[in-house]
Amino acid sequence: MKDKMKIAVIASGRGSNFMALVKACRKDGFPAGIALLITDNPDAGALESARKNGIESFVVDCGPGRGSMSAESSSEMRRLCVERGVELVCLAGFMRIVRGDLLDAYGGRMLNIHPALLPSFKGLHGQKQALDYGVRYSGCTVHFVDPGVDTGPIIIQKVVPVMQDDTEESLSERILVEEHKAYPEAVRLYAGGKLKIEGRRVLISYE
Ligand code: GRF
Repeated sequence: MKDKMKIAVIASGRGSNFMALVKACRKDGFPAGIALLITDNPDAGALESARKNGIESFVVDCGPGRGSMSAESSSEMRRLCVERGVELVCLAGFMRIVRGDLLDAYGGRMLNIHPALLPSFKGLHGQKQALDYGVRYSGCTVHFVDPGVDTGPIIIQKVVPVMQDDTEESLSERILVEEHKAYPEAVRLYAGGKLKIEGRRVLISYE
């Protein structure tokens, strides 16, 4: 992984975004490589994928709080990342709000992907919220992580039309296709030094 920015992916579930990043990182000239996968779920599909792809992986018990993580688990994740020289942390379907040492260490160096066009439909089930609200367009957002929930500066959004006969599943599937393009794109920009945060806005350099 010489000359490549080391990234850590943190995921709780199936791990399709993790795999999209794995594939992107294998491409010639991609400026980042995955140093490790961390999960809070011993049954996560992402864990199985990491093992199959020879990527170092760890299960960290984040405690009983649904949606939150213990202070110890946040410290443990920070340690795992710092010890491996990780420069960017990518949350990919991590079902807990990141607080504590991990966020302190990686503030401004942590990304998340959300299955809706933020700032609409934050939190859980973004696709169902969009469908229920009746919007004509939804999509996905890759953004920097700040102490709020899905509130950090936005890097990339991709738009997906909502069809009349969409179900939560069909809409989620079409959004996911765009997620798998958006996340590698955002990581490529970040690792290539192309992003600058100015207040709420993220400026992209195209030179
Ligand atoms: C994705 O829809 C992502 O936007 C959301 O959680 C889901 C994770 O899916 N944060 P996967 O585990 O990457 O397949």
